[in-house]
Amino acid sequence: MAAKKKTNRSSAAPSTKVATTSAQPAAPVVPAWHIEPDRTKAWKKLTALAKRGKKMDLRSAFAKDRTRGTKFAFDALGIHLDYSKNLVDTATMDALFALASECAVAKHMKAMFAGEAINLTENRAVLHTALRAPKNAVIKVDGRNIMPDVHGVLDRMEKFANAVRSGAWRGHTGKRIRTVVNIGIGGSDLGPVMAYEALKDFSERSIDCRYVSNIDGEDFYEKTRDLDPEETMFVVSSKTFTTLETMTNAQTARAWSLKKLKDPAAVAKHFVAVSTNGAEVSKFGIDTDNMFGFWDWVGGRYSMDSAIGLSTMIAIGPAGFRELLAGFHDMDEHFRTAPAKKNLPFIMALIGIWNRDFLGFETVAVLPYCQYLHRLSAYLQQLEMESNGKRVQLDGTPCRWQTSPVIWGEPGTNGQHAFYQMIHQGTSPVPCDLIAFAQPLHDVGAHHDILMANIFAQGEALAFGKTPAEVRAEGNPAWLVPHRTFPGNRPTNTLLCEKLSPRMLGRIIALYEHKVFVQGSIWRVNSFDQWGVELGKVLAKRIIPELSGPKSTAKSTSKSTTTSTSTSTHDSSTSALIAKYRALRGR
Ligand code: F6P
Repeated sequence: MAAKKKTNRSSAAPSTKVATTSAQPAAPVVPAWHIEPDRTKAWKKLTALAKRGKKMDLRSAFAKDRTRGTKFAFDALGIHLDYSKNLVDTATMDALFALASECAVAKHMKAMFAGEAINLTENRAVLHTALRAPKNAVIKVDGRNIMPDVHGVLDRMEKFANAVRSGAWRGHTGKRIRTVVNIGIGGSDLGPVMAYEALKDFSERSIDCRYVSNIDGEDFYEKTRDLDPEETMFVVSSKTFTTLETMTNAQTARAWSLKKLKDPAAVAKHFVAVSTNGAEVSKFGIDTDNMFGFWDWVGGRYSMDSAIGLSTMIAIGPAGFRELLAGFHDMDEHFRTAPAKKNLPFIMALIGIWNRDFLGFETVAVLPYCQYLHRLSAYLQQLEMESNGKRVQLDGTPCRWQTSPVIWGEPGTNGQHAFYQMIHQGTSPVPCDLIAFAQPLHDVGAHHDILMANIFAQGEALAFGKTPAEVRAEGNPAWLVPHRTFPGNRPTNTLLCEKLSPRMLGRIIALYEHKVFVQGSIWRVNSFDQWGVELGKVLAKRIIPELSGPKSTAKSTSKSTTTSTSTSTHDSSTSALIAKYRALRGR
């Protein structure tokens, strides 16, 4: 079914103001099949099973069933997923599959792939899957096939990336572009940085890509201090082209460029834009011929495979980028067609729901045993927490269940020497995703076997621990026994992938995208809006003039709350902080 007509964002958006006079859009209708998870039979069953799950002992489970390590594991698309070291048994898995079925996840998935406006609060389709669909696919929004547009942009990106890579594209003074600086934040930064770092080995090393995201001027300063404006290209990436951080950094970049290049005409050679907002791009002074578009049916955190990936394409080349897209598409097809029991995103999502809602675990650590993936957990933080960090259901009623866990992590083995102590022996168990590649990109001495020994050892230690009897048998004094005991039963997924490549990265990222989808679907939240980021943005804009303007603009009031819109008043804490800052800056 085609998506409903797009509603103007400003009229659809809930206001952060105290009062508003503009007409409000009608409340979206949640399909009747999209039921609350805790009203299902499976939820009740899982609640009962959790009593046993909380006491489950993985040592005995593995001893009782010698096939457990292969029973709860399977391969798809060059990824081996072993979820046997979770606190699950067959009954739990069956109840989880029943939960997905009662919650009609498959129906919701079909609606997403078909371009229905499942982002209900913004009345938008959710079609990042179209970004990697083949040219001959037909996917409609408002009755129009969007695939020619998708491939049209890809072709333009390809032409541009080739020109920069080959040196055919020259700067204003005729020099080659040596550095591409992507200016963006959130989804317009995290995916491109993560992919650039992950695929460095596939990149054109004579072109350096850098990423400026933070409004903190130190970020811009450090990323540009050693660059020559004559050889530097800025890619201003912003879906809305109104984001304060990005627009401030872009203005600074223009001033930085023109300080040396002098001529405003130089902007055309040193600035390109990636956005859905042509009007704002023109206003900024970037020729829309140098703009690469995408569409409101691509969420920011689902956009690394859209034109937002322009810097990725420049780095790894158009062929590499198309391989990345092919990897995403492989996983889309797997997600769409594989039975739930052999479906990577389904299994990962259901295990996550079990850990979060039934066993009560509050965080998930993503631990790639691959240095190239060192930005993966930062990327997944936005993907998972901005998508499913919601407290109300699609119809606005409060969730009576837990939603997104906290996602965090660092590459192994570095993490082992930092926070694994807590994962092994702390009071809050942390389910972990352990990710590794069987084949290294560079077989340096014995490194890879040592790395892999570590990932396997960690999964083993977390699951099976070390009993007091074992500690005593090592000859430890009684007083030391509790300190050296490992409780075990700490859940892990192990993802053993064949080899890192653009295609494999696409598969891994799409796996997590769809995992988030299944979870959001069961939790009955809108995984595709992000109203929770608005209030802070509005308040910051209000405070800016109070920091630099005349003293009287910052007032304190005992009555006011931070959401007052009528005057610049704050609570006593915020007012005192502003006053202190002004004093420290001599204002
Ligand atoms: O932080 C909120 C957010 O809207 C993210 O969802 C988005 O990825 C980011 O800001 C950047 O937005 P834009 O691409 O419009 O600059």
